[in-house]
Amino acid sequence: MANSCRKLIFNIYIGFYCSAVIMPQKCICSQFTSSPIDEFNKDPEAFPFATNGEIFPWHELRLPTVVIPLHYDLLIHPNLTSLDFVASEKIEVLVRDATQFIVLHSKDLEIINASLQSEEDVRYRKPGERLTVLSYPAHQQIALLVPEKLRPDLRYSVAIDFQAKLADGFEGFYKSTYRTLGGETRTIAVTDFEPTEARMAFPCFDEPLFKANFSIKIRRESRHIALSNMPKVKTIELEGGLLEDQFETTVKMSTYLVAYIVCDFTSVSGTTSSGVKVSIYASPDKWSQTHYALEASLKLLDFYENYFDIHYPLPKLDLIAIPDFASGAMENWGLITYRETSLLFDPKTSSTSDKLWVTEVIAHELAHQWFGNLVTMEWWNDIWLNEGFATYMELISLNVTYPELQFDDNFSNTCFEVIKRDSLNSSHPISNQAKTPTQIQEMFDAVSYNKGACILNMLKDFLSEETFRKGIIHYLKKFSYRNAKNDDLWHSLSNNCLESDSTSSGFCYSDSKKTSNTLAFLRENVELKEMMATWTLQKGIPLVVVKREGRSLRLQQERFLSGVSKEDPEWGTLQERYLWHIPVTYSTSSSNVIHRHILKLKTDTLNLSEKTNWVKFNVDSNGYYIVHYEGQGWDELITLLNQNHTLLRPKDRIGLIHDAFQLVSAGRLTLDKALDLTRYLQHETSVPTLLKGLEYLELFYLMVERRNISDVTENLKHYLLQYFKPVIDTQSWVDEGSVWDRMLRSTVLKLACYLNHAPCIQKATELFSQWMESSGKLNIPTDVLKIVYSVGAQTTAGWNYLLEQYELSLSSAEKNKILYALSTSKHQEKLMKLIELGMEGKVIKTQDLAALLFAIARNPKGQQLAWNFVKENWTHLLKKFELGSFPMRMIVSGTTSHFSSKDELQEVKLFFESLKAQGSHLDIFQTILEAISKNIKWLEKNLPTLRKWLLISI
Ligand code: BES
Ligand code: ZN
Repeated sequence: MANSCRKLIFNIYIGFYCSAVIMPQKCICSQFTSSPIDEFNKDPEAFPFATNGEIFPWHELRLPTVVIPLHYDLLIHPNLTSLDFVASEKIEVLVRDATQFIVLHSKDLEIINASLQSEEDVRYRKPGERLTVLSYPAHQQIALLVPEKLRPDLRYSVAIDFQAKLADGFEGFYKSTYRTLGGETRTIAVTDFEPTEARMAFPCFDEPLFKANFSIKIRRESRHIALSNMPKVKTIELEGGLLEDQFETTVKMSTYLVAYIVCDFTSVSGTTSSGVKVSIYASPDKWSQTHYALEASLKLLDFYENYFDIHYPLPKLDLIAIPDFASGAMENWGLITYRETSLLFDPKTSSTSDKLWVTEVIAHELAHQWFGNLVTMEWWNDIWLNEGFATYMELISLNVTYPELQFDDNFSNTCFEVIKRDSLNSSHPISNQAKTPTQIQEMFDAVSYNKGACILNMLKDFLSEETFRKGIIHYLKKFSYRNAKNDDLWHSLSNNCLESDSTSSGFCYSDSKKTSNTLAFLRENVELKEMMATWTLQKGIPLVVVKREGRSLRLQQERFLSGVSKEDPEWGTLQERYLWHIPVTYSTSSSNVIHRHILKLKTDTLNLSEKTNWVKFNVDSNGYYIVHYEGQGWDELITLLNQNHTLLRPKDRIGLIHDAFQLVSAGRLTLDKALDLTRYLQHETSVPTLLKGLEYLELFYLMVERRNISDVTENLKHYLLQYFKPVIDTQSWVDEGSVWDRMLRSTVLKLACYLNHAPCIQKATELFSQWMESSGKLNIPTDVLKIVYSVGAQTTAGWNYLLEQYELSLSSAEKNKILYALSTSKHQEKLMKLIELGMEGKVIKTQDLAALLFAIARNPKGQQLAWNFVKENWTHLLKKFELGSFPMRMIVSGTTSHFSSKDELQEVKLFFESLKAQGSHLDIFQTILEAISKNIKWLEKNLPTLRKWLLISI
């Protein structure tokens, strides 16, 4: 249903997806008639060849559903010296229809042999029958051919022996290394499977819908420990002193959540109020950095059990910091793996924003234990049901468990971040087709995470938190240990009542009784599925245009496109058939009431009950839409901000700043009007709002600086330092104050030092010298640490010293700060040295290469270097990272998307075309090209205005 609907509206996508799918080689040989596999006879040409030249009996990327796995017995023996593993498995399968082959996934594994037993064979201990194994690497599949047809409704046991090298990258069963305090390098073996890499560790039915139970055994040496999803039941000693750990059988789960690790790490543990044992593991020398994570995960696990009213179903939960990790963290059930910077907290070197990040990642991965692990999307096209929910739950859980982190104040930024992408034509619907592993990986993007979370937040605001909570509990309970799709969620949210309080419409009477009649009426009459389809099956974000005429408000909705103005010829076509059901909210000068309405049509008219001076739509920025005020609307709001900004709520002020600058990109508001709106910021009392305004001004600064537009750069620098002088000068260089006071300090001082503000440079230089003199022992306040290092890195002696300290530091929070500081050097040979070290992967780990290239590309002196490097070393980079993976996408967009000239656009276009010709294609290429075109247009249109505005402002 979802697919056909999308095809109808957005046929633009169809062409791409069809051509991007890897088409199997066609078989045109005569062998077919003599094939024993009679299933092929109908259409032999449709089947590809296996590696041995025989016909592979399956031609689709998705596995057949005639055979389904029930239980896996896995025995794994990694050798951390020879860096390989031998393994065996027994998969109990249920046959649903007669078949002569079993197809499953396997990638880069050497299959030694495979055999099959029927239930009867197992009962009478009859040995298995050896099976022929065919392999079709293009689809990462193997087929096991059985001599006699398997019979429906019977269970069989498939046994496979296999082996492989521990992988070099970050996927499957791979090796990771770390250095001890004593300088020794040690190796560990670790898994990372999502989305499609379990098949690199053991042959399996590697699709989320094939849930099964797993009984895992790991062989190891006595100097190591083994961890897996479940607690260890026992350890047995084998000949030669080898040990075998046997783990309890898991609950029913998808393959991408299986995990096992062999390492020599140590841990701290605690128990939740419901008796779950939580442990934090790290390499032995980092043990002291694990305590914050333990406190946070205990609190959060308690919270979620309570909030969902569902017990965490496993007896234990381990969180482990892995020295080499591609993404931020992975939610494997019972054994969550983290990049070190996402789990470890070092009070001496971790800043406030580091603490926020660690807490956020823990909250996110713990939420997955329900959203994702207990209830899983049917297919990767709906990955937002995992990632959007986990991102949304960060907000809900942290507001309660860590109110002092004031996480809520930052949520609007989650939405603003994705709006950048979603207001380009190359965006995609939240639920999107994904077939190949690369397409599946590309689904893990801001649209699934951020937009997913933002539309859930909008829906919660519309339904009320209690109704929404009841609905998701209903959904989680109903689909536990199963899979779900969008419609299941909408259905659960519309039928969430306990029997005692339901009404005929499905919404809970007890809820609606408490709210106003109009709101109850709105909620009870909305067709949730229909409404939410407009947000999940349709790409983009709506713009609500408001025009006030006396007491009447005329509303109009259209598709918001940044970089395209109404006068552009393509505007009309890009608007066709877009329509949302928008739950709009607004407040007015005459009362504190939040008014609500659902805008389902293109245009609508509302009547105000009283005369008002101003109207502000999208209360608290809870809605996923941009608002434009026609006529006097913006002027009224600017006047209001200047007179008394506190009459609007902080989140409304942040929304106004955001929307104003977005409207500039779409040619709906002039830049000077948006800049005028920021003039009140001198008096702004809310830090997140102030930071938002500053962010735009800084963005413009970086844009003109990179393009060497020196007059505007100088004047903007002057303006920033003069205008924000009061706030810069009042900052102390001490870790003190609330979270937002501390964030303000980091941001403002970083900007001031970047702009060469003498007092800032002087203080940072002083601290840096003291730190060097103390041989790195002096504790610098954590929130200014990165700034001090960056100023220090500007001299050769400082830079060299920082690089030495980088090698020695045991805190990855500190290492990140040093690496950033090193990347701000103005000397190209130093930047090149960093890239070389990153490519070598010893001093600077490969996992940090993407962030390094990103940082160098943001340095005006490094942008060309980073870009040239990526172009010239694409194949080397592809050997390190998968094409669609987070790091690779970060490298490509990080080194290109800030460009703003026609020549640069042309260069990037040519490069992407050459990649496409080599078979490397990513969806984000189009997004990047669109982003660059948008930058070019922005500068063409707004540079003269910016120049003029600065002249009258300084
Ligand atoms: N499930 C993801 C990990 C993942 C990412 C797997 C991409 C496959 C492809 C995990 O829950 C996640 O979302 N991690 C985030 C951190 C989170 C706090 C946003 C990450 O890795 O950045
Ligand atoms: Zn996630």
